[in-house]
Amino acid sequence: MSKLSFPDIPRVDAYDKVRGKPIFAADDTRPGLLHAALAISTIPKGYVVTLNTEAAGRVPGVRLVLTHEGMTAVKSSGFIMGGGYGFQSFQPMLSPTIAYRGQPIALVAADTLEAAVEATHLIEAEYMEEPFSVTLDAMGTEIVQQAETPLKNFIPEIIAGDPDKALAEASVTIEATINCPPQHQNPIELISTVAEWDGDKLTIHEGTQNAEAIRHGVALGLGLNPENVAVISPFAGGGFGQKNSLQMQTVLAAVAARETGRPVKLVVPRAGVFHDASFRPASRHHIRLGADKTGKMIAAIHEVDAQTSRHDLFPGEYTATSARLYGFSTFRGVERLVRTDVQTPGYMRAPFEHPACFAMESCVDELAYALNQDPVALRLANDTTTDTATGLPFSSRHVAECLRRGADRFGWANRSMAPRSMQSSDGTEIGWGVAIGAYPGIIVPAIAHLKVTDGGDVIISVGGHEMGQGIRTALATAISCKLGIPATTVTVVVGDTRSAPQHLTAGSWGTASAIPAAEDAGDAMLKALETIACGPRAGRSPAEILKASGRQSLEVEVRRKAPGQPDAIFDRLRAGLPSIGGPVFGSYVTFSYIAHFVEVQIEPSTRRIRVPRVVSVADCGRVMSPRTAASQLRGGVVWGIGAALREASEVDSRYGGFLNADLAEYLVPVNADIGSIEVEFIDKPDTTFNSAGAKGLGEVCMVGVAAAIANAVYHASGRRVRELPIRIEHLL
Ligand code: MOS
Repeated sequence: MSKLSFPDIPRVDAYDKVRGKPIFAADDTRPGLLHAALAISTIPKGYVVTLNTEAAGRVPGVRLVLTHEGMTAVKSSGFIMGGGYGFQSFQPMLSPTIAYRGQPIALVAADTLEAAVEATHLIEAEYMEEPFSVTLDAMGTEIVQQAETPLKNFIPEIIAGDPDKALAEASVTIEATINCPPQHQNPIELISTVAEWDGDKLTIHEGTQNAEAIRHGVALGLGLNPENVAVISPFAGGGFGQKNSLQMQTVLAAVAARETGRPVKLVVPRAGVFHDASFRPASRHHIRLGADKTGKMIAAIHEVDAQTSRHDLFPGEYTATSARLYGFSTFRGVERLVRTDVQTPGYMRAPFEHPACFAMESCVDELAYALNQDPVALRLANDTTTDTATGLPFSSRHVAECLRRGADRFGWANRSMAPRSMQSSDGTEIGWGVAIGAYPGIIVPAIAHLKVTDGGDVIISVGGHEMGQGIRTALATAISCKLGIPATTVTVVVGDTRSAPQHLTAGSWGTASAIPAAEDAGDAMLKALETIACGPRAGRSPAEILKASGRQSLEVEVRRKAPGQPDAIFDRLRAGLPSIGGPVFGSYVTFSYIAHFVEVQIEPSTRRIRVPRVVSVADCGRVMSPRTAASQLRGGVVWGIGAALREASEVDSRYGGFLNADLAEYLVPVNADIGSIEVEFIDKPDTTFNSAGAKGLGEVCMVGVAAAIANAVYHASGRRVRELPIRIEHLL
């Protein structure tokens, strides 16, 4: 572990979690609660001609059968990347249209979950089917170019110099096409909503990364005043980008609760998470890389085709990160979207950075072999302080130190360069691989409210969502350090639209956005306390100062935004719209970096790949919460092992939908797949980026892991695998 710039405080929510306190929306229970279940489409595209719900309505305990015919006053809340609030613009059950297999066609609410589920099975649908396409290369897809409106507004073009000319002049070139499959994050907490009305006021309990989008989205969809909608989400049981906007079930639950006059709980089952929530789209990467004879990378061209839905353009910014890995002399990034008949894909853990860096870092490894240069030495020689894409300096960039420390700790110097040169006596092939990763530094606006009382209460309310990453602990730590009080005495209120405006928490910006705001609130509180104490605090706690001056409580509120954001950004924040600042600021560019070193072992007869050892060193600026940061990093490495060796959502072009839509068949690493994972932090504050010096951590952790594993597989076996996941059959 590196030096600790912050105390190593245990998770403040640890006890509630391990004791199973009902802190998640699906655990919510209340008097009169009805349980809802969904009937889903069994065709991939077309429309419903007739829906027979008679038998469903006769099941004892059924209170409501809702179809599109009962949803007349409801409209779509729009697509979050198109100015709306939903994960897609298409809200199921507003019309007979079927846009993808697995889409809801009816909802049943009943006294028990069993009755609701039974009734959904009795609903009979007749459909009119239409032709559909679900893969990048299928007939009937439509390709959208980056230069077309509105895509060009979302994916900035990256062109630096003339890479075609430089490629023609290069001494060594690499060209490869690399495929990354669709994947589904599977938070253990399913997507779930409890909706309750009190007169014209609606309360939504739901685990989310974006309480404000749910509030405004439901208001828009149902024609309500947002003032009358509250969203309460103290904890989300994992999100990983899937819960970053209004989901399709929230409006359905709200309508069912209104129609029945009862609170309604709707928990979407696991198969529904595969079909009715966003996922990582399939992507294909065509890379051309050129170096001069010394190994200087003088040209890179990265072209991407990524999947989107028929109804929305999910903008993939893949090359925005691959362009920031090295000091490429020239670079061009090109991105295209391919419309397919699926729900709109979305952000899944390092959504673009993981596939983009898998592709680029696989090619950089090939380049090292083509040049006969050590893969670490080649990477160090291509380090830079200037961003190729903009010509601006990086506010901080310690990837070289990540590589050096990682190499040291891993024992990289003992590696022999040649593929298949490190076999053990029983024929096990051993491979050592390296890769780096990057992730944009982003800040979003935050309003923090801090209250202290003479009874010793300290309450910090700020935009942020706790989804297991540890933002509560980081906030409690920051306030505790500022006010000189124990972290356990700080109450952290996040994910609650009744307290402070709740910006979407995603993109690894939670800490860099909420912590500086909380620290500012702490400073403002110290000042206010000194004012009422008429002098220095002299070691007294806030409660002691309040008591001495006869006051019951004191409150302060501060606002923070990204450098260069206008004041109007706080209106967007209050309206639940994403207001993302970075990674390019006026005079600098900010990215987090990481280096991964991996050992793989390939069993001689089964060709099974094991990963006994990983060393990862991260540059995320200042480490705010050492324990949760280390946990994030280990978790990210496990994600990377999953991406490299296990995870893929299987698609059959004959059927549509996703075939392995459960946790038995969607493979993720289990404990037996995980060996030693050593993690380390550079822990150098980036105070150009923000006053706390924290960059982002969550997502960069997994970026590059899959490439390091693929590169180790090459070193072990001599096989260069250009698609994920890497399976036994690739090595036969
Ligand atoms: Mo993250 S995939 O931006 O929650």
